[in-house]
Amino acid sequence: MVILAIETSCDETSAAVLSAGNGGGTGLAAREAAPPEILSNIVLSQDEIHAPYGGVVPELASRQHIKSIEAIVREALSRAGVELGAVDLFAVTQGPGLIGSLLVGLMFAKSLAYFGRKPVVGVDHLEAHLEAVFLENRGIPYPLLGLLVSGGHTSLYLMEGPLQNRLLGRTRDDAAGEALDKVAKFLGLGYPGGPVVERLGRGGDPAAFPFALPRTKDRSLDFSFSGLKTAALRHIRGQGLAKDSPRLADFLASFEEAVVRALLGNLAQAVETGEPRGLILCGGVARNTRLRTRFEDYASSVGLPAYIPSPKLCTDNAAMVAAVAFKKFRAGQVGPLDLDLDAYARR
Ligand code: KG4
Ligand code: ZN
Repeated sequence: MVILAIETSCDETSAAVLSAGNGGGTGLAAREAAPPEILSNIVLSQDEIHAPYGGVVPELASRQHIKSIEAIVREALSRAGVELGAVDLFAVTQGPGLIGSLLVGLMFAKSLAYFGRKPVVGVDHLEAHLEAVFLENRGIPYPLLGLLVSGGHTSLYLMEGPLQNRLLGRTRDDAAGEALDKVAKFLGLGYPGGPVVERLGRGGDPAAFPFALPRTKDRSLDFSFSGLKTAALRHIRGQGLAKDSPRLADFLASFEEAVVRALLGNLAQAVETGEPRGLILCGGVARNTRLRTRFEDYASSVGLPAYIPSPKLCTDNAAMVAAVAFKKFRAGQVGPLDLDLDAYARR
């Protein structure tokens, strides 16, 4: 079968074509099924459009999706060498995300499905991030702990079985990526902040600036990054740090280190209380080298396998959306063409 997936939840316009064998059956057998093959996964970033504002401007994002969506879908089909008529299943991100942006992808996918008389599956964006590793690995054993770290979300999930994800904790304020983006914005380093903080902090001393880690009094698995962000702004003001400060690399490395420690602290607490058979790291911030390395080191210290998508599958992309649609199809959860499918900004 051939799946065409569309993702427009934030500021990336993406379309992907994947092909999956029909062998393996449905239900339990789906666990061992070979992952679908990515024939194309086109991602058009809007970074340049939002960079002057230091963050995503929702109205500009949706307008840009409208301009790009048709060309991106055409490009995905052409790179895959697949005709539109050969698509068996359409998949599209339904939410959470920016409502105007989501609607562009959703309406486009519904139109294609209606035109081709093929089913269209709505996919949850967070579930798609968690599913990305399954495109590159076979036979990952459940239960798993999934740490999702992006610009909009920072959450910890117990993944009990295929598409059975239970939320254990989430951020009470800023997401980790958002904190990185805001600190970079405050220093005028550009957008998105995560990759800039990583690049400019490389070689810096991660112990140079002290950051007290957030601790929730109730030992819950929720995260909090606004305290770290405020502490970062205090260092910046207190020490007069700027773009060209000699201590900038030390400061950025220290802040990145604090974010990584906060993430891994909650993960370790969840590992102690649950009995996962593996650990998943995903979301845009999972591109970060310090986080990837420390996550792997932690996993091996507790004798668990670590699964992290390759960098291009960490940030928003449509292939991960297709991965969820594929599992839903295998589980018999795909109905006939449903044009009532609606977008949601939040879960
Ligand atoms: O998953 P994603 O593409 O979009 C959301 O669903 O939010 O994540 C975007 C986030 C941004 O906050 C960006 O700064 C961060 O991922 N990011 C990184 C890196 N690359 C992207 N953060 C740290 N290090 C990176 N290399
Ligand atoms: Zn995302």
